[in-house]
Amino acid sequence: MIQKISPLTPFQAAIRLPGDKSISHRYGMLTALAEGTSRIGNYSSGADCHSTLDAMRTLGASITVEGASVTVEGLGMHGLRAPASSVDAGNSGTTMRLLSGILAGQRFDSEIFGDASLNQRPMERIMNPLRLMGARIEGRDGKFPPLRISGSALSGIEYATPVASAQVKSCVLLAGLFAKGETTVTERIQTRDHTELALREFGADIDVRGTRVTVRGGSTLKGRDLIVPSDLSSAAFFLAIALLIPESSLQIQGVGLNPSRTALLDFLVSIGANIRIVNLSQGNGEMVGDLQVRYGPLKGGVIEGDLPALLIDEIPILAVLGAASRDGLVVRNAGELRVKETDRIATVAANLRILGAEVEEFPDGFAVKPVAKFRAGTFHSHGDHRIAMSFAVAALAAGGDSLIEEAEAASISFPEFYSTVDRLRG
Ligand code: S3P
Repeated sequence: MIQKISPLTPFQAAIRLPGDKSISHRYGMLTALAEGTSRIGNYSSGADCHSTLDAMRTLGASITVEGASVTVEGLGMHGLRAPASSVDAGNSGTTMRLLSGILAGQRFDSEIFGDASLNQRPMERIMNPLRLMGARIEGRDGKFPPLRISGSALSGIEYATPVASAQVKSCVLLAGLFAKGETTVTERIQTRDHTELALREFGADIDVRGTRVTVRGGSTLKGRDLIVPSDLSSAAFFLAIALLIPESSLQIQGVGLNPSRTALLDFLVSIGANIRIVNLSQGNGEMVGDLQVRYGPLKGGVIEGDLPALLIDEIPILAVLGAASRDGLVVRNAGELRVKETDRIATVAANLRILGAEVEEFPDGFAVKPVAKFRAGTFHSHGDHRIAMSFAVAALAAGGDSLIEEAEAASISFPEFYSTVDRLRG
């Protein structure tokens, strides 16, 4: 699908966005492993999170979806059934990596595959710790999906993650639920901790000390009612719109503000963004609040060191804001961008050049110089949801009408993205 994007005029609005993708995946999996019925409100509408629900159905769970409300009849910790077919993770790295931890501890064999993009993404990062726990797991060419997992008896391990990845941490912790003894994961940089918070909500035996997390195998999870806060990574696109269109202001309601995700807000404020948090509360262990953002010029800056790991999904939209800032943006130590849904260093740089920006690429990042006025053009998502949305946002601030190719990729995390943008018009 090719989407036309016309420039946006100043606006004042209040919006509410769909549920957080990371939290939805975890609730989708844990409710199926829990005992009893769970109801999940504001479940993500993104195709990735529905890949997780479909995967849990393939493993025997009974799941009903009515809009954003999901009801799951839990099977209990030992109730998953051998799948009749290979498990399809779609485009979703989170589905594949987290579910592999669960599948490794089952008594049956399984296979899990993805689409063309996911089948090129590295899996040794989960295969290595799972093998240390006693799992038998094989991949194409030793490291890519499809993954073939033979049911095994697992033993707890102590594991220090070599890559800053919540998906790796979560995979090992979920396998730890099925392992004998204790499983401990330590991280050098604390990545998003939704798995830890959700495990506690469901009653697992879990202990968190700083960046050291321990689960004990053999817990029973209890089904429950949960509400997913709105997705801060989706909100990032709308924060950016308000920061790009002069004289605009926006309120985004009920956004997940887990401190392991809010480095984005701190960075934006540090480069001059006018963002306020109001109505802060807590639900299911997660922080939630409203974001108020007002247009104002940005200084630009540098994202390096530990910071990229803390706002990795937001770097494409920050690149667009960097191009519109006074000094531009430099990103280093972000080599992980090369193994996301696309090589996001390459796909961001190519699209920034279409906007008229001068961009230098590095193996682990890029530098973008400021552009006086964005040029309209034809931008390419390369099938990557965050690239589609980032350059649709840029196009709103361009000098004329633009086109986004493979614009439908946005529905991987945010199917309502284009219609929500339209609500800001007139
Ligand atoms: C996610 C973790 C991050 C992030 C992804 C979602 C999660 O990946 O990029 O969109 O839900 O755990 P890594 O853990 O591989 O960095």
